[in-house]
Amino acid sequence: MSRKTLSFVCQNCGAAYSRWQGKCESCGEWNTLAEESADAPVGKGSGARAPGRGRAFTLQSLSGSIEEAPRLATALSEFDRVTGGGLVRGSVILVGGDPGIGKSTLLVQVAAALARRKQRCVYISGEEAVAQVRLRAERLALADAPVELASETSVEDIIATLSQGELPRLVVIDSIQTMWTSSVESAPGTVTQVRASAQMLIRFAKRSGACVILVGHVTKDGQIAGPRVVEHMVDAVMSFEGEGSHQFRILRAVKNRFGPTDEIGVFEMTGLGLREVTNPSELFLSERDLGSPGTAVFAGIEGTRPVLVEIQALVAPTSLGTPRRSVVGWDQSRLSMVIAVLEAHCGVRLGTHDVYLNVAGGLRINEPAADLAAAAALVSSLAGAPLPADAVYFGEVSLSGALRPVAQSPARLKEAAKLGFQRAFLPDPGRADAPSDAGLTLSQHGNLASLVADIAARGNHNRLRREA
Ligand code: TYD
Ligand code: MG
Repeated sequence: MSRKTLSFVCQNCGAAYSRWQGKCESCGEWNTLAEESADAPVGKGSGARAPGRGRAFTLQSLSGSIEEAPRLATALSEFDRVTGGGLVRGSVILVGGDPGIGKSTLLVQVAAALARRKQRCVYISGEEAVAQVRLRAERLALADAPVELASETSVEDIIATLSQGELPRLVVIDSIQTMWTSSVESAPGTVTQVRASAQMLIRFAKRSGACVILVGHVTKDGQIAGPRVVEHMVDAVMSFEGEGSHQFRILRAVKNRFGPTDEIGVFEMTGLGLREVTNPSELFLSERDLGSPGTAVFAGIEGTRPVLVEIQALVAPTSLGTPRRSVVGWDQSRLSMVIAVLEAHCGVRLGTHDVYLNVAGGLRINEPAADLAAAAALVSSLAGAPLPADAVYFGEVSLSGALRPVAQSPARLKEAAKLGFQRAFLPDPGRADAPSDAGLTLSQHGNLASLVADIAARGNHNRLRREA
């Protein structure tokens, strides 16, 4: 007979310890360890067998017939873009996001869209009563969609219900933290419960071919609360992001076994739910402050799609011993590098200035191609010289001060031309093929210094060097 072992599991990251301790060594949080039964017998009763008595199964080849179309497209094209072309049968997707960002709204809309396409969709809410979900659906004008609804938290009951009759195509579980299973002894909401519940739902998805979407809460530091292990167990992890002051919401694939991870879906929260934004550039440029110094339009690429976004900089004399460097939506170390290159190779002195950099609209940029736009915005702010309103910028800055060409220049230029821009500032292509100009005037620079001189010529040249 096996002795029941107890272990202490961190409720933040899921690390297990044999003894209690105040601080979790894995994630560094204090007071997060709770006693739980270690040998969580997931699914005991149904499939538990004595060790060494396995059943032999037939192995299969990689090629083989797939009976049905493996993907199920919803009518929400921005959602389909992020999933990689639709929901994959038998897959499990974890959707994380801050409270109130719109996860439940998004998933009600997805379920309704699919149900209207004559697919059986079930929405299980562990947080809201049926009446509340109905109220929301009414507000979204989706009340007529044949989505089946329940307010339940017991995973066993949910799986038993779903296994009856025609198998559903989509099951939304809102949220995984509210689910519990009687197969483990811990209290609902603990790591062990969440992990065991997720495991059972994943097994149900694989067995039935239904796509299961789990909603996950996010902690204040941006991680999906509770066990990171759930992230490893599911097929795709998506985060739904947005900024409080903005109506834009961005769905981003963090992990995807069936598609790319760099695609974003852009939505706008309106009084009637989430509206798809099929041309994000227009949205991100809609509140442009034309004619003021310190803003540059960056022609970026998000996944397969070009996105134009405004980069705003403010450079102001500091009153502190150590000047502030603050950045929203871009990489802090990338900003430090661009500042260092401006100082070392372009004669721009920023040592006695605070620097604030902001990507408009709540977008987060990961591309090094934004270097040039950031540098242009910084120099423009310092010189008090507005950049031409009809110009876009892209290019990578190297430590030597040289500008390096970036991938997909033609797509960036085409998007800029489509939105009415007339000029593009970009790296000299060197030996590479010159980008097709798409009707734009190209200002190609071999190094950052020549671009800085260009901007300074428009503004107060002395302000740039006053600190030198
Ligand atoms: P919700 O989907 O409940 O967020 P989550 O499930 O991520 O916690 O969204 C709640 C917010 O969305 C709430 O603050 C109000 C806003 N909202 C709208 O602006 N318009 C709408 O049509 C709906 C349904 C919600
Ligand atoms: Mg919710």
